[in-house]
Amino acid sequence: MLILGIETSCDETSASVVKDGTIILSNIISSQIDIHKQFGGVVPEVAARKHIEQILSVVKQALVVANVTLKEIDKIAVTMGPGLIGALLVGLSFAKGLSLTYDIPLVPIHHIAGHIAANYLCHADLKPPFLSLVVSGGHSHIIHVETETTFNIVGQTRDDAAGETFDKIARALNLGYPGGPIIEQLAKKGNKKAILFPMSNLSKQSNDYSFSGLKTSALNLINQFHQKGWPISIEDFVASYQEAIVSTLVYNVKNVLNEYPNEPIVLAGGVACNKALQENMKKMADHMNRLFYYPTPILCTDNAAMIASMGYYVDPCKLKTSEFDAVSSLRIDEWMNHILINEK
Ligand code: KG4
Ligand code: ZN
Repeated sequence: MLILGIETSCDETSASVVKDGTIILSNIISSQIDIHKQFGGVVPEVAARKHIEQILSVVKQALVVANVTLKEIDKIAVTMGPGLIGALLVGLSFAKGLSLTYDIPLVPIHHIAGHIAANYLCHADLKPPFLSLVVSGGHSHIIHVETETTFNIVGQTRDDAAGETFDKIARALNLGYPGGPIIEQLAKKGNKKAILFPMSNLSKQSNDYSFSGLKTSALNLINQFHQKGWPISIEDFVASYQEAIVSTLVYNVKNVLNEYPNEPIVLAGGVACNKALQENMKKMADHMNRLFYYPTPILCTDNAAMIASMGYYVDPCKLKTSEFDAVSSLRIDEWMNHILINEK
């Protein structure tokens, strides 16, 4: 089965052709990072306008590189949410147009489910059930993946997402955007024990995250350094800050793994690129005798191959309507009920 994936939820315009849910024939990603850099973050209206400019050529390239025509495509999978509404509408409207013109079934995909499915593209042996830590610019979730389409949230952030926590401090230190990869590079030259940042631990009963205290304490420290004129070692600062984020993420996952004695652990989302996070998760997984998976860097960030892979598992015949809308915030555990006919 050939699936054309389309992803425009944030600042990457992407299209991909994936065979049988696992084989990538093409994965074209046009990033807007250089445009948004000058604003220190993604400007939603600019993002939507850039998607409109890019979408046609990105989809054409995806077909050319895969060496297929639209007539050979069996299904189109498009991100319906969560994401920036104007950005989502570009991909969704384009996909609906293609679906109508070429009479190709269309399935609406949850962005986070796509991030998880990125792992199916890299690891042929990976099958649910497993636990997934999904960490991106907008999300930090621990999800129990029961089947490819059944998700149970067992922990999530109550305020900032992990990627946002990196981005905001990088911005306060004038390091550039996006902050995660810049902080990771600088942290390699720093001492991660130089500053002891607070780690949130909400309660023994909760596996939720909270990063706002960590972020505020880092912002206060930056202000103090500036006000008092103390020299600040950026490398030590960001190495310690990254250490606090990574330790917090790993700590809760370890607690959740105790509740699921056999499940492998699967990393996903933009922050999954982070080597310190990968290494700490691997150490913890080895210690707990669990298999550990993470995607290749290009499949960690937003891309359409992951959307096409997830699309493989959604049956277009079971959709409530073909007139589905983009949704800027949609829980992953409500996605299936939102789009499929209730068969009970
Ligand atoms: O999944 P993604 O591409 O977009 C969203 O769905 O949000 O994630 C983007 C986020 C940004 O916050 C970025 O700073 C972070 O992922 N990120 C990283 C790294 N690469 C990207 N964070 C830490 N270390 C990295 N190497
Ligand atoms: Zn994403």
